[in-house]
Amino acid sequence: MIPDVHTPENRKALFLRACRSEPVERVPVWIMRQAGRYLPEYRALRQKHAFLEVCKTPELAAEVSLQPFHIVGVDAVIVFSDILIPIEAMGMGLELTDSGPALADPVRDSAHVAALRDFDPEQETGFVAEAIRQLSRAVGPDVPVIGFAGAPWTLACYLVEGRARDAFPTAKRMMFQEPALFRTLLEKLARTTARYLKAQIAAGATAVQLFDTWAGELSERDYEAFALPTTQRLIAELDPGGVPVILYTKASGHLLREVAQAGADVLSVDWRVDLAEARQRLGNRVALQGNVDPCVLLGPEEGIRQAAREAIEKTGGLGHILNLGHGILPSTPVEAARAFVRAGKTTSLPARVPLGQAG
Ligand code: CP3
Repeated sequence: MIPDVHTPENRKALFLRACRSEPVERVPVWIMRQAGRYLPEYRALRQKHAFLEVCKTPELAAEVSLQPFHIVGVDAVIVFSDILIPIEAMGMGLELTDSGPALADPVRDSAHVAALRDFDPEQETGFVAEAIRQLSRAVGPDVPVIGFAGAPWTLACYLVEGRARDAFPTAKRMMFQEPALFRTLLEKLARTTARYLKAQIAAGATAVQLFDTWAGELSERDYEAFALPTTQRLIAELDPGGVPVILYTKASGHLLREVAQAGADVLSVDWRVDLAEARQRLGNRVALQGNVDPCVLLGPEEGIRQAAREAIEKTGGLGHILNLGHGILPSTPVEAARAFVRAGKTTSLPARVPLGQAG
């Protein structure tokens, strides 16, 4: 067990204040892909159960989600699942191989787009909502539980390409050759994803994160023409002002202005973005999450502490959720993950004038 340093009694309130850019005593910290193969406890469970079996069994999903909470000391739990789970519910055959997800029959024409099912999330992916309910009960009312889904563009990349492939040329061919069909696909994904996330919110998710991992593959113009409008519609459907929405994009420094228009409360960015510059460009309207390079956790502890401190100094700790810039790598030592979380919890924030007394 790690010493529970600087853990306020109510981490849910802390997390929500950070999402809303309200003053905090310290930044909250969690790690993308925090439940996963770098944890011996996760690997042990995976010896007995297949990945999709863990995702679809609420007791197992909840158990795995709790591992980093107890072992690493993160401030938030994220439900264990995958962005491709709803794709299966839409009627796609999904397999998770050692080299990543693979779809047996990728979407290549209008008949296939039309055949994708508008599934009922309570009926067909009820195990996700149930895992969130079990998790919320296990951690109690003072710990945030994060739900998530893939953003339409990133989901479309997998649906059309069939697997992760450098630059997603098949998905982009559909986008450029049949833009109306590609838009229909994005719209369909936005609609089903909105319902899927609403079911997670109804089950008790404190916040939801949209993973648009491949946004950075798009030019500013194409992000604005294809990904942005569907992401905006999706977020608008989730009832703004309610549960905070975190939007993650990778390699998207050239898109920050557009990504900020999607309507998310928090933008999660990777290590290529300078947080101070992002804050300057975007102002205080949107909170920031990130953005330490996951590879920093493969280096010495002093480097980890310094990277966490630097990230916090760049935002002044206001409207900031400390995280990595992308998922934690399977080769990360558990001690390094703990050092990162500890650094987040112990970095003191610059003194600022209490609200209401300024000027
Ligand atoms: O953050 C968490 O701890 C929750 C769990 C989570 C997983 N996938 C579990 C997982 C989350 C949030 C995801 C999101 C996800 N899945 C994304 C978006 C974020 C990102 O990292 O870019 C994407 C693109 C996927 C699709 C996916 N799933 C890929 C490309 C892979 C293979 C690569 C890899 O890391 O193994 C997966 C499998 C996967 N998803 C694993 C885990 C723990 C590994 C499965 C195993 O145990 O073998």
